[in-house]
Amino acid sequence: MEPESAAIQTENLTKRFGSFTAVEGVNFEVRRGEVFGLLGPNGAGKTTLVRMLTTLLPPTSGNAIVAGENVSRHPRRVRQKIGVIPQALTSDLDLTGWENIDIYGAFYGVPRAERHKRARRLLDMVKLTERSGDLVATYSGGMRRRLEIARGLIHSPQVLFLDEPTIGLDPQSRHAVWDLLMELRSESEITVSLTTHYMDEAEQLCDRIAIVDHGKIIALDTPVGLKRMVNGADRVEIEVDREAPRIAEALRAESYAQEVIEESGGRLTIATDDGAHIIPRLIEHVEALGAHVTSLGVHRLSLEDVFIRFTGRTLRDEAAKKVSFLVGAGMPQQR
Ligand SMILES: Nc1ncnc2c1ncn2[C@@H]1O[C@H](COP(=O)(O)OP(=O)(O)O)[C@@H](O)[C@H]1O
Ligand SMILES: [Mg+2]
Repeated sequence: MEPESAAIQTENLTKRFGSFTAVEGVNFEVRRGEVFGLLGPNGAGKTTLVRMLTTLLPPTSGNAIVAGENVSRHPRRVRQKIGVIPQALTSDLDLTGWENIDIYGAFYGVPRAERHKRARRLLDMVKLTERSGDLVATYSGGMRRRLEIARGLIHSPQVLFLDEPTIGLDPQSRHAVWDLLMELRSESEITVSLTTHYMDEAEQLCDRIAIVDHGKIIALDTPVGLKRMVNGADRVEIEVDREAPRIAEALRAESYAQEVIEESGGRLTIATDDGAHIIPRLIEHVEALGAHVTSLGVHRLSLEDVFIRFTGRTLRDEAAKKVSFLVGAGMPQQR
């Protein structure tokens, strides 16, 4: 990859808080135009990493280049070229939607006429045109989040950072934010860095995903590539009409079956690399054994399963959630 084509590039990026290492020797590159996900449980170090990339926190060691500028050497230049949407909702409740965007644009030095033109287009994109004259205090969480995404784009940044953009939103608002990000992805040259602890979100939105745990990147690939790293990524579930134990035993000898698990009621689960392709052969084998397949389903592993394979733990860690939320909201934090 050409270095100049990278929107984000890190080199051994590290952050320590006292003796605790929150981000440890992180290396990755994000291409221009890419939607890049940082996926990990609460407390993994995602926000700390993003705060360094967005110049809000100085690295303890290592480097990061964002939009062609070094975050430690030229933080102001970086800030001009990026949009930041922090985890906590930050739009001003006492201003209207329009005012929130307009003031932000003015702060970035976008000339008035251009600012107003962009504000109208962005409010339209986030479907808030009708409500743009109302105080943000009257908005729902989802509306505020959409407004903040529009606001983050008013100065036409090259890289947009979103930290847990759908945390705390109801399912409908979450999907509205997803639609918006997918639109952004298809329509513009902008690079998006998105942190999330929701695997469905990462999977839906991201071109590539770095799985972060304990301050380190433990895997980095496309969603499909990550799932391929796990053997037997598909689960084919069948039900047979007789002699399930004998059939399970026979199927275990087949090369496509990485594992055959016998459940109650004649149900068998077969772990395999390519579920859709083995189905015809599987049915043939069962029939050759003198039985019939009475029902069949294929279940593909999720990123959650990938995470469990790499770490032995689940992605959701409810106990850590509150702490992470306070950190994200910029509250003072003790360890
Ligand atoms: N300012 C700080 N002082 C001390 N510890 C911190 C500070 N900010 C974050 N941490 C710790 O660093 C770890 C990573 O936090 P964070 O980056 O917020 O994770 P995530 O965003 O993945 O949930 C957590 O254990 C958190 O408590
Ligand atoms: Mg966070």
